[in-house]
Amino acid sequence: MRNKIVAGNWKMNKLADEAVALASELVNIAKDEVKGDVKVILCPPAIYLTTLQKYIETSPNFALAAQNCSDKASGAFTGEISAAMLQSIGIKYVLVGHSERRQYFAESNELLAAKVNIALENGISPIFCCGESLDQRQNEDYIGFVKNQISESLFHLSAEQLQKVVIAYEPIWAIGTGLTASAEQAQEMHAALRAHLAGKYGSEVADEISILYGGSVTAASADELFASPDIDGGLVGGASLKSREFINIIKAR
Ligand code: PGA
Repeated sequence: MRNKIVAGNWKMNKLADEAVALASELVNIAKDEVKGDVKVILCPPAIYLTTLQKYIETSPNFALAAQNCSDKASGAFTGEISAAMLQSIGIKYVLVGHSERRQYFAESNELLAAKVNIALENGISPIFCCGESLDQRQNEDYIGFVKNQISESLFHLSAEQLQKVVIAYEPIWAIGTGLTASAEQAQEMHAALRAHLAGKYGSEVADEISILYGGSVTAASADELFASPDIDGGLVGGASLKSREFINIIKAR
């Protein structure tokens, strides 16, 4: 059985008191309303991780993720946060390769492979993001493009290591645009990616990997998306900043 996961990527949003308010609201509402075994992963700005731990520690369903980590172990890299530092405060997940990092910080598949490695070495599960641009979808082999992102950043891993990775398919044309991929479009890609994993690691391993969909997920679109057989949950941006909306997305899973 694959883990069902709904992750909220807060990006560079919320001031300290707002971050605390949102996390505590989510935990309180979830206590009454969220049943079952869905894992909720909040990805706040790193500066709030330690503070928010206090608010989520009573809820076994909740975990925290960093939005990024360095590919380097330690040293003179001003402004960076290492995987070992995240581990030292008890963080279990990190987003790796979000399209905004790829686009604005020129993160390559090769660099992301190094981030995946260092996260795993520190006992942290990477939530590895991949996805094509609108231009690629219209003009190229868009499935091949995303498969290649996975091959270049993940296929050096052993099966045992891969099983600690969560994959998030996020078509760039659907991120923050209000344009969600249809359930058919998302399922097509998720099934292709799972088949790609199966080709390398075998279907038993591929069947255990959670593949999340991200890109303008809302409470209104979540039901249909999450009902697709290869969609194991969501990575939610904008809609994760409002407690009621995010809870309704979690409940759809
Ligand atoms: P969005 O962002 O839900 O606002 O489209 C998703 C993401 O970037 O992870």
